[in-house]
Amino acid sequence: MPRMKVQGQHHRSIEADPSTRIVRFIDQTRLPHAFVLSEATHWTQIESAIRDMAVRGAPLIGVAAAFGLALAMTEDASDDQLNLVSQRLNATRPTAVNLAWALERMTSHLQPLLIENRQAAAWREAQAIADEDVAINEAIGRHTLPLIQAIAQKKDVVNILTHCNAGWPATVDWGTALSGIYQAQLANIRLHVWVDETRPRSQGLLTAWELREQGVPHTFIADNAGGHLMQHGQVDMVIVGADRVSLKGDVCNKIGTYLKALAAFDNGIPFYAAVPSPTIDRTLRDALGEIEIEERAGSEVRRIQGLDADGQLTSLQLLPEGSPVSNPGFDVTPARLVTGIITEKGVAAAGELARLFG
Ligand code: MRU
Repeated sequence: MPRMKVQGQHHRSIEADPSTRIVRFIDQTRLPHAFVLSEATHWTQIESAIRDMAVRGAPLIGVAAAFGLALAMTEDASDDQLNLVSQRLNATRPTAVNLAWALERMTSHLQPLLIENRQAAAWREAQAIADEDVAINEAIGRHTLPLIQAIAQKKDVVNILTHCNAGWPATVDWGTALSGIYQAQLANIRLHVWVDETRPRSQGLLTAWELREQGVPHTFIADNAGGHLMQHGQVDMVIVGADRVSLKGDVCNKIGTYLKALAAFDNGIPFYAAVPSPTIDRTLRDALGEIEIEERAGSEVRRIQGLDADGQLTSLQLLPEGSPVSNPGFDVTPARLVTGIITEKGVAAAGELARLFG
């Protein structure tokens, strides 16, 4: 069932037209101020879109990379091209495992085929990855719903805090952390979402935008507010997304997630990560030591972007050049702080993930 709407019209965050070989995606660098669809006709445009975060969110960058390989196969379906483009796309962002997962799936599907059959097969496989993402996220939402329902039986309004954007723009449709919220809305459960701003790139703006578009009550908060709200009984549960999760249940997600998990633990508030199976990295032994944490440009911290008095998108300097800046993009929340991992197969205690996916 298609779900997400912008001004009443359904959109997927990425769509491909195999007849024209055009990939269309929402340019997330323009949200929430402008809804702009961009087109890619060459794989290098997908490479830039992932690197510059026009497409972002772990599941979506995997799907985008798959379509990027399909564009590359349209140009030249040789082994050299397959290997080169796969490596180039994989190098765009290091932390979310979905990127490598999707490229590996595409490559192992295409490699054994005759060169003349690769182009059509690449478009079919990329589309299958996109369609599976929608089904996985819908299933995650179905498994989240009873957790929300259980709280709704005791309270008038369920207050959920989320960090970053793990909604539909970060996936093809539904979102991961927000999928259950949309399903609770369909089930007429009264809820309200606390939306962390998530500096430095403020992905919380995307979350506020999509919740507003879908008519879900929400409040945008500065990143430092969550702990205080938890201490005062204003948060019933936390649901976040993930970029890479170990079988032990350690959750790598957007920077700041760990602090929210600590505050939730201290206040006895359930903390859930919504995790599609392609986000699980079975090779990880020590998530804290082994995951490459993306270090992004200092300008993201030093500057801030928004609309000026004339409604023009503008960038302002906050911090003078003399002070150095550090900008790690992700952190790891240890499994002991995670109440449960919500997957398409059901909810597992963090330590039991291996039972479902090992
Ligand atoms: O840097 P981003 O915006 O790509 O980071 C996104 C996140 O950390 C999300 O929480 C995660 O990818 C899950 S999206 C369903």
